[in-house]
Amino acid sequence: MEVLKIAQDAEASLRQIGVVLAKNQVLAARILKAANSVLYSGPPVSNLTSAMMRIGLSGLKQLVCVYSFQCKVARRHEYQHVLERYWIESVASAVAADGIARARHADIQLPFLAALVHDIGRPIALTILADLRRDHLNFRKADEAAILKLVELVHGRLGGLVAARWKLPRELQETMIYHHEAVIYKGAARELVLTIAGADAFVGRIGVGGQPEQQFSADAYKVFRELGLDRSHIEGIVRPVRERADQLAGLMG
Ligand SMILES: [Fe+2]
Repeated sequence: MEVLKIAQDAEASLRQIGVVLAKNQVLAARILKAANSVLYSGPPVSNLTSAMMRIGLSGLKQLVCVYSFQCKVARRHEYQHVLERYWIESVASAVAADGIARARHADIQLPFLAALVHDIGRPIALTILADLRRDHLNFRKADEAAILKLVELVHGRLGGLVAARWKLPRELQETMIYHHEAVIYKGAARELVLTIAGADAFVGRIGVGGQPEQQFSADAYKVFRELGLDRSHIEGIVRPVRERADQLAGLMG
């Protein structure tokens, strides 16, 4: 909650983030590792202050969010390989949402964070279903394809419930619930919901977690139009998404 608050706070300073990192050695070590990675060029840095200066305020907020959420959803079960795919898709979606927000000259913090967490219902649903398969004979008959279909069906509502429980802002809750119904959603979080739906369209088109889709769907183009994104914006976003998502995911190990 502390991390989330700071990540959403436009006024949050390097100092405040430093206070959070000082309380979490694992997070601090990862920030240090990120600062010395290919994401940021320059001579090696060996202390947290230099690492934070190099990454910069908005990059730090994003990294802290990525790491915090990775811890929240990680637990071993038989669908570990799927969890890994979900994770990389969320990171890629966050990178794409960042690209969309920048292309629209909109705020970048909330779209990145929202994209990162919007599918939180997926790992949670998958973990519940893995437990059910382990404990109930009837569920053992369900193959992986059926399980994954169930996850897709329930993850939005489930994510919304979790968001309410975590007392996440209303906008984030709505995004979790409605991101697959963006073109018909007319609520207060419309801009954010559209941004996340657009980001997911990029992830599908690029094929981050599997086969790339041949083209954007008609709904994706509707979303892009609503967001005011033209062809040159779209091309400008596609290219860096895969590369940055791979780099970010590479830092997770
Ligand atoms: Fe989703």
